[in-house]
Amino acid sequence: MATNFTFTIVKPDAVRNGHIGSMLNKITESGFRIVAMKMIRMSRAQAERFYAVHKEKGFFRDLVEFMVSGPVVVAMLQKENAVADYRKLMGATNPANAEPGTLRAMFAESTQNNAVHGSDSDENAELESSFFFSDFDRFWE
Ligand code: CMP
Repeated sequence: MATNFTFTIVKPDAVRNGHIGSMLNKITESGFRIVAMKMIRMSRAQAERFYAVHKEKGFFRDLVEFMVSGPVVVAMLQKENAVADYRKLMGATNPANAEPGTLRAMFAESTQNNAVHGSDSDENAELESSFFFSDFDRFWE
């Protein structure tokens, strides 16, 4: 079983703006292999559970509204050092601070509508992946 993977979401802003293809292209060109993927619309309950760690934050309500505002693409990405490398590829949470060439610099609208989510640890990569995918949905190389 591969352990070097991360979990990502192409968020509703990026889907609405027609960026799915360009983002997946940039992700695969950067050395990540897609091992599971689907397009879904999150329910409010799913979004609230997914972002439960932020439930005390002032931005929680707006974040949940945003995440249920349209379809998203959820995926698992395999690569050596996947979590850290993917966070580099995403760039800073606020796209105004994201390095040129990062996904958020290229595709995000704002701190909230920031185009992409990526796991912050190996543990969360597994937790978040198992939230959306069963073992049978994962196509490891
Ligand atoms: P993500 O990496 O998915 O994790 C939590 C999300 O909350 C984050 O991306 C943003 O979409 C959102 N977020 C984080 N900080 C703020 C903030 N200060 N104001 C609004 N939204 C935020």
